[in-house]
Amino acid sequence: MQPDITFSERLEAIGDKVTLSLDGLIPRVTGPESDLLSAMRYSALGGGKRLRPLFVIEGGALFDLPAKAMIRVAAAVECIHTYSLIHDDLPCMDDDDLRRGQPTVHKAYSEEIAVLAGDALHALAFEILADEETHSQPKVRVELISLLAKAIGARGMVGGQAMDMTASGTQMEMALIARMQRMKTGALIQYSIGAGAIMAGASDEAKSALSGFSNDLGLVFQITDDLLDACGESDETGKAVGKDAKQGKASFIDELGIDGARRRAKLLAEQAKQHLDIFGSSALILRQSVDFVINRSR
Ligand code: IPE
Ligand code: IPE
Ligand code: MG
Ligand code: MG
Ligand code: MG
Repeated sequence: MQPDITFSERLEAIGDKVTLSLDGLIPRVTGPESDLLSAMRYSALGGGKRLRPLFVIEGGALFDLPAKAMIRVAAAVECIHTYSLIHDDLPCMDDDDLRRGQPTVHKAYSEEIAVLAGDALHALAFEILADEETHSQPKVRVELISLLAKAIGARGMVGGQAMDMTASGTQMEMALIARMQRMKTGALIQYSIGAGAIMAGASDEAKSALSGFSNDLGLVFQITDDLLDACGESDETGKAVGKDAKQGKASFIDELGIDGARRRAKLLAEQAKQHLDIFGSSALILRQSVDFVINRSR
């Protein structure tokens, strides 16, 4: 990495690389399943901050893995993230019409196609990881696959989404809200940051530092997302705002208020960075990513 490049430039460069990779990995639009393929491309290639790909690539850079070695994992993670957003927006979930500044998939296509495009992106992620181009050693590929399955399953992202749905309109304790956020948002972020450590066979000390970092960062991420829903502008976020309160979503804001949630996010952000101390200057971009996450307006 050139030292004079800013964080935003770095994020943009990684975004371009992952978009190019996804463009090659998602099948071209042809045949009787054209609508499905077109919806997959529409959602996966149409914007997004690409923060998880940055986490994958910078997590790999800590162990001297070049971006080229990490890009397929970054693409797989972005497939999962995109699938989760398509399903999150469905009428039976958050019922949203706008995503990344464009109509949601069920609006642009249909509800059926949105469910199936999500399913197909989910499957594609595992297909990408299982391919030997991702890593030469089958044992490493199995570990990547198995940890991703855990991160996004019933005890991870999907479990957190289920808690989010059943919690709507009810009062939830802070500890339970934190658990829900760690599962629905934190688990995939944790996987993204730790993928390089798995591929490099990193030490337990390094893995646990990264896990501490991502635990805090995952919470910062979702608290900021909740604050953007409460105080942000739709023009900037690219999605509807003010909906969480209307739908009775459980968040730190209910318990702590806007200022309290901001303070909590700030504290967690500082804590997150401390976990990176053992990596010295090689974790510069990951440290900057914390500031980006907490200060973002989209
Ligand atoms: C939004 O994630 C959904 C949450 C987990 C809070 P991002 O804010 O990373 O969404 P994109 O990829 O930039 O659209
Ligand atoms: C979504 O959280 C988390 C996942 C998709 C796993 P939100 O429902 O808060 O995300 P946005 O605000 O719609 O992007
Ligand atoms: Mg949701
Ligand atoms: Mg939502
Ligand atoms: Mg939200």
